[in-house]
Amino acid sequence: MWGKRDGFVVHDRAPFNAEPSRSALAEGAITAIDTFYSRNHGPVPDIERREWRLVVTGLVGQDLTLTFDELTSRFIPRSVVATLQCAGNRRAGLAEVREIPGEDPWGPCATSTAEWRGVRLCDVLDAAGAHTGDDLHVAFTAPDVSSLADPPQPYGSSIPAAKARSDEVLLAWEMNSAPLPRVHGGPVRVVVPGYIGARSVKWVTGITVQPRPSDNYFQATAYRILPPDADPDTAGPGDGISLSSVALNCDILEPDDGATVSAGPLTVRGYAFAGDDRGVARVDVSLDGGRTWCQADLEPEQSPWSWRLWSLCATVAGPVTITARAWDTTGAMQPESAAALWNPKGYANNSWARVHLHAN
Ligand code: MTE
Repeated sequence: MWGKRDGFVVHDRAPFNAEPSRSALAEGAITAIDTFYSRNHGPVPDIERREWRLVVTGLVGQDLTLTFDELTSRFIPRSVVATLQCAGNRRAGLAEVREIPGEDPWGPCATSTAEWRGVRLCDVLDAAGAHTGDDLHVAFTAPDVSSLADPPQPYGSSIPAAKARSDEVLLAWEMNSAPLPRVHGGPVRVVVPGYIGARSVKWVTGITVQPRPSDNYFQATAYRILPPDADPDTAGPGDGISLSSVALNCDILEPDDGATVSAGPLTVRGYAFAGDDRGVARVDVSLDGGRTWCQADLEPEQSPWSWRLWSLCATVAGPVTITARAWDTTGAMQPESAAALWNPKGYANNSWARVHLHAN
């Protein structure tokens, strides 16, 4: 479906929600398009490049409407390698603590990395004479209507103006040197490196500069951390804590959870990602439940906005639990337990990663 490779874990066919297997995601620091996870809240729109329009409005000098050709020829294109990570990545680990009804049990692969090519959002904002001010917000709208929203509405979200004006935020039309595929937001999407995937609005057709965050359901009500005793069905706009930068996270991609492997040397591989302006500083791996730790080898950083793949050669025998945890460049480390992080919508599980295997 949607050009994805065999072995994808499809949580829903419509709207299409699917993640690659751990081993497929481990294949490279840049994720192939047929391997990149996809998260949708409604039907995938079919918009031709020649029909696509972008309207920039709100607190601007003058409303601006751009065609695809104008967007791609008027501004200087640039490329950014950036990881997208869904706020629901690793929800399955939270659901093991306590059930999370109505939400997909994403494993550790609702995250992927691509080279995105487009123009800086700030250049388009400047062309419209957008007001500046760090207390402003930049809201994005798209045409895909989600019946999962209450009430049903087109997808939208917003980011603070300071982030919107940063160099890395793109209006992108290429992914890994190919035209942006429909399922990933083609013809044009927003890419907000370092923020939860929900802010990287696909099929973007509207940008509004405004004094407040977007009142769209997916900004005001969803993608917020509710207290453990809250009822998500009655939560309303503004309840809970709005998610923006991605929490420091890591997981193990090889071997797979539940695998049987040969006793002896084993290469353990995974990813680690620190959102926004933090980097991954270290990944520790334990074979004894966290009593002792070894440091994994980190692959070079491809960009400040990208995950780092890591690996470690361990010697294994019998039943083994492998635990991994990452540290960021501020000295912060992932929390140990999913139980401590449980929240009713199952967002932002960044607890230590664990896989269980049998080596014989
Ligand atoms: N944009 C629109 N218009 N509609 C959506 O449903 N899903 C968001 C974001 N942008 C979404 C969207 C979420 S929650 C995520 S995690 C990313 O897109 C997923 O991007 P991908 O499908 O390219 O991996």
